[in-house]
Amino acid sequence: MQSLHEAMPVFPDPALPPRAAPAWHSPPMLAYRHAFHAGNHADVLKHLTLVHLLQHLNQKDKGYRVIDTHAGAGAYSLGGRQAGLHREYEGGVGRLWDRDDLPPAVQAYVEQLHRFNEGPALRRYPGSPVLAQQLLRAQDQLRLFELHPTDHAKLAGRMRGDARVQVQVADGFTVLKAQLPPSTRRGLLLIDPPYELKTDYARVLGALREALSRFAEGMVLIWLPQVQLVEAARLPQRLKAAAVGVAPKGWLLARLTVQAPRERGLGLLGSLVFVANPPHTLAPALSQALPWLARVLAEDARIAGWACETSG
Ligand SMILES: C[S@@+](CC[C@H](N)C(=O)[O-])C[C@H]1O[C@@H](n2cnc3c(N)ncnc32)[C@H](O)[C@@H]1O
Repeated sequence: MQSLHEAMPVFPDPALPPRAAPAWHSPPMLAYRHAFHAGNHADVLKHLTLVHLLQHLNQKDKGYRVIDTHAGAGAYSLGGRQAGLHREYEGGVGRLWDRDDLPPAVQAYVEQLHRFNEGPALRRYPGSPVLAQQLLRAQDQLRLFELHPTDHAKLAGRMRGDARVQVQVADGFTVLKAQLPPSTRRGLLLIDPPYELKTDYARVLGALREALSRFAEGMVLIWLPQVQLVEAARLPQRLKAAAVGVAPKGWLLARLTVQAPRERGLGLLGSLVFVANPPHTLAPALSQALPWLARVLAEDARIAGWACETSG
C-alpha cells in the first residue's frame, strides 16, 4: 500500500513536465492521481458512506445538490497501468465483489459497482462523481470540481451531455460561497482532498466551518487518512468541535483500520469518514458493516479494527 504522503515522488504524471522542472511549473498537488488507489479500502469506506447518504436523500422527492470539491477522473480502469501498479483494489473492492454475505450497507455499495460494470467481471471502478450520477434523479444536481487538467478532461468527457451535471477546473476549497446553500436547501457536500499538502488538513477544517455557516443543515462528508502525522491525528477532534452547536443533526465519525504502519511510521493504516448532519440510519449501518469490513479487508489482523461514534 502506498502512503498518501509518498505518492507524489513515486507516481510522476506523464502529462506533466518531468519532476526535474522547477517546482513552480509543477505544483505538488497536481502529482496525486486517484487512479493508483481506485477501489482500495479507503474508497470502500468513503463510497459506501456516500451511497448510503445519497440513498437517504432519495427518500424525499424534493431535489438536492451534490457538490464534490475534489472529484478526480470520475471512473477508473482496474486493468490499466495506474491501478495495476500496486493493485490496491485487490485489498479493497476485489475482496467484496464475489461475496454473498455482505452487510446491507456494503451490499448497497457493491450493487452500484455491479451496475457500473454491466457484467460479471470487476473491470472498472466508479469514483464519487459516477456513483453520485448513478443515484441522481432528474430533479437533482451534481457540481464537480477538479484541479488536475488530465483528470478534469476525463471527468468532463464522461459527464458531457448530462444536463444535471456541471464540471469545472477549480480549487474545490474556494467554491463553497457560490455553491451553498442550494436553492432547494437539500444537499450533500463531499470533501475528499489528497492530503499531499499538509495545508489540506487546515483547509478541510476551514471548508467545514464555511459550509456549516452557509448551510447549517446540509450533509457534509469528509474523508480523512489514518496516517501517523500530527495534523491527521488532530483533525477529527477539530471537525467535531466545528460541528457542535452548529450542525442541527450533529456529527458521526467512523474509522476502518486495516494495517500496521511500516518502518518509520509510514503508510496508510486505514481511513476515517466524518459526516456532519448524518441521517439517523448511518450509525447503525456502519456499526454493522465496519466489524465485517475490518475482518475481510484486514492486511494485519493484529491491528485491524474499527470505530463509529456520534455526537448524540
Ligand atoms: C482523493 S482524489 C478524489 C477522489 C474522488 N473524490 C472519488 O472519491 O472518486 C483527490 C482529487 O483532488 C484533486 N485536487 C487536489 N487539490 C485540489 C483542489 N484544491 N481542488 C480541486 N481538486 C483538487 C486531485 O487532482 C485528485 O484528483
